[in-house]
Amino acid sequence: MVVDQVIRARRTNLQVDPDEEVPDELVAHLVDLATWAPNHKRTWPWRFTVLSGDARWRFGEALGAVAAADGAPDEKVAKLRSKYGRSPVVLLAWVRGDGDAVRRREDRDATAAAVQNLLLGATAFGLASYWGSVPDALWDAARRFAGVDDDHDLVALVYLGWPRGLAATPPRPVPEITWLA
Ligand SMILES: Cc1cc2nc3c(=O)[nH]c(=O)nc-3n(C[C@H](O)[C@H](O)[C@H](O)COP(=O)(O)O)c2cc1C
Repeated sequence: MVVDQVIRARRTNLQVDPDEEVPDELVAHLVDLATWAPNHKRTWPWRFTVLSGDARWRFGEALGAVAAADGAPDEKVAKLRSKYGRSPVVLLAWVRGDGDAVRRREDRDATAAAVQNLLLGATAFGLASYWGSVPDALWDAARRFAGVDDDHDLVALVYLGWPRGLAATPPRPVPEITWLA
């Protein structure tokens, strides 16, 4: 696919077969593509956690337990326990949050760019992808589960799987561009 096709074809799509495996080598390749993002000061601030198989369910249990202890309604807890099993791979993209405020901001920008590289790579390889959010209140539980230090923030949770349906394409408003010459 040429670049326009890949960029326009990427959709936030969770219509995947949760049992059709995505090879580890392909996920590792996508993570390698992620690292080709621009990165001011070359801090390489990202790290990744890949959950597949039973780990997806254990992750949901860990987050659900924290939500339950915090008094979340049963329905929400039940959803947390099951939602990460919806795709064969769940990838967590973390950023190391050290340095001054500018460095932290730029490192997070770089990691978001890395995540987009990964999503576009997934699209080019025919995978569906979905950038989801994890509520801030559950980040500690996610950190503990993944074994990352407290100074890491979660930038993205990405579901990956082989598509079983097409997601609607949200139209893009025409961007405002100011041309100065
Ligand atoms: C930082 C970030 C967090 C997101 N979190 C969620 C989310 O929690 N749930 C969700 O349905 N989509 C989430 N999305 C995906 C957007 O909803 C999606 O990109 C948007 O609807 C446009 O659709 P498209 O990606 O198919 O073009 C997130 C996207 C970003 C960049």
